[in-house]
Amino acid sequence: MLEYGIGNGRIALPIARDGARVTGVDRSTPMLTDLRARLAEEPASVRSRVKVRRGDMRTVAIDTRFPLVICPFNTALHLYTRHDVEAWLARVRDHIAPRGELVLDVNMPIIEDLADPPGTEYALPPFVHPTRGRVRYREIFDYDRVRQIQFCSMCFSPMRKDGRGTKDDELVTPLAHRVFFPQELEALLHYNGFETTQIHGDFEGGPLRQDSDVMVFHARPRRSR
Ligand SMILES: C[S@@+](CC[C@H](N)C(=O)[O-])C[C@H]1O[C@@H](n2cnc3c(N)ncnc32)[C@H](O)[C@@H]1O
Repeated sequence: MLEYGIGNGRIALPIARDGARVTGVDRSTPMLTDLRARLAEEPASVRSRVKVRRGDMRTVAIDTRFPLVICPFNTALHLYTRHDVEAWLARVRDHIAPRGELVLDVNMPIIEDLADPPGTEYALPPFVHPTRGRVRYREIFDYDRVRQIQFCSMCFSPMRKDGRGTKDDELVTPLAHRVFFPQELEALLHYNGFETTQIHGDFEGGPLRQDSDVMVFHARPRRSR
């Protein structure tokens, strides 16, 4: 199978341990460095089943067609414009077997959250950050209604001994997610040569519902375009 946005192999490694071959594409050097370090800990049989290509999912060309192409955990939300989506789906068409399947999952938009005023903050429970130790964590949101992009600042404040967070050496990581509505995503797939065969609202095969927080799309290349 082919995974777009393989990251550090969170999904690919268990699949490879199960015996399937995975080719992964990702443009992030730190993610792929982490993946290579994790692969080094695996038995040779698992390592031999994982191939990695660094590059952009909109342009990378691989000389193989795959029966299954996946794009999990919001990777498709890094496609911000119609041109980005068109370029990526053209690559998927290049790499999918004639009766192959494309599966992707993205957040279901929550209208109430998108209506929050710019700069709305949410505090989440403290946790241990891999490099900053125990941190207070908050997210600040700013939704661009024209471009349909949710900008999020992820703020990690190392905790002092008294348990309070300090903003002096706060680490702020930006994240931008395109917001796709269900019918919009189905239309984008359709007009780029795919037939949506199933849309689920969870990872157990349940239907997409009003209160689902994830959309899992299954699609196949359309026979007549
Ligand atoms: C949310 S992570 C998902 C990683 C992994 N699939 C997982 O579930 O843990 C999204 C990944 O997509 C990658 N990515 C984002 N835009 C990309 C692009 N245009 N081309 C290739 N990779 C991209 C990021 O570097 C990141 O590793």
